Amino acid sequence: MFGLNKEINKTRAWKHLEKYASKIRKVEMRDMFEKDPKRAEKYSINLENMLVDFSKNRIDEKAFIYLQALAKQAKVQKKIEQMFSGEKINITENRAVLHIALRNLDNTPIYVDGKDVMPEINRVLAKIKDFSEDVRLGKFKGYTGKKLTNIVNIGIGGSDLGPKMAVEALQRYMPKDMKCYFISNIDGTACAEVLNKLDPETTLFIVCSKTFTTIETLTNAKTCRKWLVDALGEHATSKHFVAVSTNPKEVASFGIDVENMFEFWDFVGGRYSMWSAIGLIIAIAVGYDNFEKMLAGANEMDKHFHSAPLDKNIPVVLALLSIWYNNFFGIRNHVVVPYDQYLTYLPAYLQQQIMESNGKNVDLNNEFIKYQTSPVIFGGAGTDVQHSFFQMIHQGTSFVPCDFIIPAISHNEIGEHHEILLANILAQSEALMKGKTVKEAAEELKAAGKSSEEIKKLKKYKSFKGNRPSNTIIFKKIDPHALGMLVAMYEHKTFVEGIIWNINSFDQMGVELGKQMALRILPELQGNKDIANHDSSTKALIEIIKRLRK
Ligand code: F6P
Repeated sequence: MFGLNKEINKTRAWKHLEKYASKIRKVEMRDMFEKDPKRAEKYSINLENMLVDFSKNRIDEKAFIYLQALAKQAKVQKKIEQMFSGEKINITENRAVLHIALRNLDNTPIYVDGKDVMPEINRVLAKIKDFSEDVRLGKFKGYTGKKLTNIVNIGIGGSDLGPKMAVEALQRYMPKDMKCYFISNIDGTACAEVLNKLDPETTLFIVCSKTFTTIETLTNAKTCRKWLVDALGEHATSKHFVAVSTNPKEVASFGIDVENMFEFWDFVGGRYSMWSAIGLIIAIAVGYDNFEKMLAGANEMDKHFHSAPLDKNIPVVLALLSIWYNNFFGIRNHVVVPYDQYLTYLPAYLQQQIMESNGKNVDLNNEFIKYQTSPVIFGGAGTDVQHSFFQMIHQGTSFVPCDFIIPAISHNEIGEHHEILLANILAQSEALMKGKTVKEAAEELKAAGKSSEEIKKLKKYKSFKGNRPSNTIIFKKIDPHALGMLVAMYEHKTFVEGIIWNINSFDQMGVELGKQMALRILPELQGNKDIANHDSSTKALIEIIKRLRK
């Protein structure tokens, strides 16, 4: 059995944490820092060129030990082992979960149903290498003999967000004459606005879909195919369309030669697939060597996750802290703020990775869950977001745990830009932790020459409760290796949270109902089908839309 034999919220470890949380709520982090000059050192983990400082969290030694006890209670280490050894831990779909095999550059065998998956993975990696190099060197040309310099990824969810985030993050490694585009939304605007910018003769479409049945992707691919065929004729498609999928049958029936298909496997979840051929656009954009460096970074994190003890294990510690606030402080949100423009799409990518994985309400024992699972993830690049939702982060009625991600060195060291950026992030985490008492605010106002009436009027508005937790994750530079480490870190953090919540982080049945209903509504919108079976709101909305579209 993969599920826990006791509900996690009924265990001793959970009860201890509940009790201890009510105690620690009264403790201020600024006092903890004052009392313990070694706090930062104690609560930091170093790995290669990466440092995770989690000292600005509302924990002390006891809380940290209780959190580790919870991990032990949930058998975190055993379950990590099960994942790495290819057990079918995705129990609802009866699948192994092996994104780690995609970056297993040591090539140690990993067995699923008695078969080593590595030879197939290596075969596809070699195909990605050859094809990406041929496109970059102009050896694989378009139908009319021109170099393919516009690369369009058509996919959605896991077949879009990972590659889009990584291509944006690593754009400094792209050749100047290449441009990458992403079409995901079924909204015709997404297709139209990309196609308007393109020349069919120099455009390569990569249709990415694990299932090759996703309506958005197939509709967008069909529109793009027609656009190409209208311009260059049917014969041109084999030079301008490739597919990435686990489903050769559907790829062929769509009209893409399976020779032009890059395969992956059902042991790779969509949102964990950027390391597979779904990352083809990354390899084309930044070159296979850099793609491999990204895999190596992820592999480095995998090894750390697999072997480090709980208290020194970055993904485990981050997961425990997230659970600490989520389940013992009643906090519903988590914010991710990369202080790097190139990581702009990281929060969007993590929204799928975390919430599609852990937004679940049935546990591994087939029971409805009575405790909170995934928090709401949001975020954006700093310093931009300091001027939007940070007001709430600093002075909202409850706190929002933050992850701050910083490269010590920028790809664009222009004047003072990066130092100002770095000063800002450090100021944010310190301000959140320390806050400013009403008394301190009053003193500041006094020093600024305000009258006692003004001080009385303003001091509370100018105060900050503080004691707001954050993790600071520093890299030397966001290069392909660092990006691999960062993304794998979050993948494993998500997995550990799922283990403790006793859920399957690797299915996504919650997205099905809306899809089914859309298929039912489509013919009702298009024709005169009876709409009587809907509730009065949906019925009225269908009617008004039909009227407006006449
Ligand atoms: O939205 C649900 C989902 O199944 C995601 O998990 C997946 O990443 C996305 O749709 C796209 O699926 P596919 O790659 O099969 O087109």
